[in-house]
This record gives sequence, C-alpha cells and structure tokens, in this order.
Amino acid sequence: MLHTNRTTLAQYLIEEIQHKEGGPDLVALLLSVAQACKIISRTVAMGSLGGATGKLDSTNVQGEVQAKLDVISDEIFRQRTEFGGYVAGLASEEMDDPYPIPENFKKGEYLLLYDPLDGSSNIDVNVSVGSIFSVLKAPRPGEEVKTEDFLQAGRKQVAAGYAIYGPSTKMVLSVGHGVMGFTLDPVLGNFVLTRPNLTVPESTQEFAINASNSRFWEPPVTRYVEECMAGKTGPRGKDFNMRWVASMVAEAHRIFMRGGVFLYPRDNKQPPKPGRLRLLYEASPVAFLMEQAGGKASTGHGSILDVEPTELHQRVPLIFGSKEEVERIEDYHENTPDEGGKIPLFNTRGLFRDAG
Ligand code: F6P
Repeated sequence: MLHTNRTTLAQYLIEEIQHKEGGPDLVALLLSVAQACKIISRTVAMGSLGGATGKLDSTNVQGEVQAKLDVISDEIFRQRTEFGGYVAGLASEEMDDPYPIPENFKKGEYLLLYDPLDGSSNIDVNVSVGSIFSVLKAPRPGEEVKTEDFLQAGRKQVAAGYAIYGPSTKMVLSVGHGVMGFTLDPVLGNFVLTRPNLTVPESTQEFAINASNSRFWEPPVTRYVEECMAGKTGPRGKDFNMRWVASMVAEAHRIFMRGGVFLYPRDNKQPPKPGRLRLLYEASPVAFLMEQAGGKASTGHGSILDVEPTELHQRVPLIFGSKEEVERIEDYHENTPDEGGKIPLFNTRGLFRDAG
C-alpha cells in the first residue's frame, strides 16, 4: 500500500523547526542522521551476507571489544554528517576524543553525540540493535571543538532520538515539542510518521534489569526488585513481568510502546561502578525523550538531565520509564536504610505500611 499522504520525517522537521533560529541547519543535520540510520539499517539487515558481522581484535576507549558493525556504523555517522556545515564536531562511544570537522568542510553551530550501534552484542544472534544520538549547541560555533564543549547537562539538548533496527526500522525523535515515532518505508526510503505524540504510560507492571548483577546491587534497588518479584502477594499487590534485551534502545522502545521501567543502577562491583550506561550519548538522549513523553529518567537521586558532566565517556546510574515507578525508585533511594547491605523487605517505610 502506498502512503502518499502521510507525513515524512523531512516534512515534519520542515513544518516544526525550519522557520526557527538555527532551524535550517538543525533540519539538515537531523536528516543526515536519518540517512546514516538508513544505511546502518540496511547494513544490519544484510547480516552475514554483507560481511559486516563478527568481532574485531580492537577495543574502544572503554575497553569493550568492538564488533565490526560498531566501527562501520561509527564511520557511517561521521561520513553522513561531517560535510554539511552544520556541526562543529562529533563525539561517539567509539571515539577516544571528539572528532573535529576537517579543514575542507565548514564548521557549524551544533554538536552531535552518538552511540552508533547500541547493544552490538545482539548482532551475532540476530536480535534488535539501535543507534542513539543527542544534539547540543556548540558553545563556540564555527571553531575547532574541545572536549569541554560537549560537557553540557542533558537539559541543554536541542534534539535527541534513536533508531531501532528490529522487524521494522523505526526512528523516535524529539526536537523539544513532544516525541514523534517514524517507521522506515524500505521501498521509498522515507521515515513516515506513524506514532505522533508518543507518551509513556504513567504506571506499569513490567521492569527490566540485568538480574545477574543482583549480588552487587545497592539496597534500594534490591528492595524495588524484590517487591516486584513478590507479585500479588507482596507489598505491590500485583504481578510484574521482567524483560532484558541487552540493548538500551530496544528497551526504551518497548517502554514507549507499552510502558515499563529500565534500571542499570550503580552497583558495588569492584571498584564500585558509577553505572554502565554513558551519560552524554546514551542516558541524556533517552532522558530527553522520556521527559518529553511524560516519563522520567533518573540517577536514583534526581533527573539525568540535571547531571553536570565532567568527562566525555562518563558513566551514570540510569533508571527510566513510567513516571510512577521511577518516582518510587527515587523514593527508595532516599528512604531505604542501609543495614550493612541487608534490608528488611516490605516494612521499611510508610508507603506500604499505611496501604496495608
Ligand atoms: O551500551 C551498553 C549496553 O549494551 C546497553 O545497550 C544495554 O542496556 C547494556 O549495555 C547491556 O548490559 P549487560 O551486558 O550487562 O546485559
């Protein structure tokens, strides 16, 4: 079926931001990002036939073994966005330092940060992966970038989004006026608006966490998960479902579609980990999208969007999704006593005592 009268990504962006200050360059940048995502989608879909699956011998700056597609996707993002005159610099999970725009191209007013292939361990088992990105204003437009330029709190983002490469390819995007969901029409090559004004349901009965880390969790997280697992007979009085895809983008997409909460909290592995997910190109964009859609994203102690970054590849605890659950987990971070790592399960504070 042809979709001749449906809004495309280009049309949406032109109508929404083209006429604003800095709008034309932002439209051009986001369309270039969409182009990169289409190419990655195609490369991912080719699987072994494209010769791009498998691991490399190299590791990224964070010591993670790189998949071939990590490196290829990084290059695709760079190639599609560096030449247009709208970015002053790029930074990604796969780069040690920010990428300055080469001399032969004009430097623009935006900074682009991205994880070009989130959840890449899923590639070889043919499970969904994604790309996620964040757009900031360059503090010194037109000049060569420095790392400090990228160290901006998530609240300052002018746009953020992700693409998910699943049974169909979707792009979910916000330019600060709600969250829009687009589906790639693979024949015409257009992202078509299929889910305008996405909202995250306020309550949920589904959570996502890597439970193999449970022995390292802090008491508020243990308490939250144990209460969910206790189901109908526990303090929550309802059964919960658990999911773990090991691709944050795919988890975020599920939460946009039917609600839920995702946790990759701080834990007590040696040395204590400040979290696993990276602030600037994973947590910040997902937090921007969540808040734009009525959900929340938190470190456990406050909004991810208020964290002042100190390093390009900084990791943060990340909890996001349905508002009621994120607020409950924040509340547990404030109010769950740490009794040498062991906490009484269901009776530590008024919330449930009173409800009982
Ligand atoms: O980039 C980090 C990431 O791949 C996320 O997409 C995902 O949520 C997480 O790591 C998976 O972590 P683990 O390997 O602990 O399941």
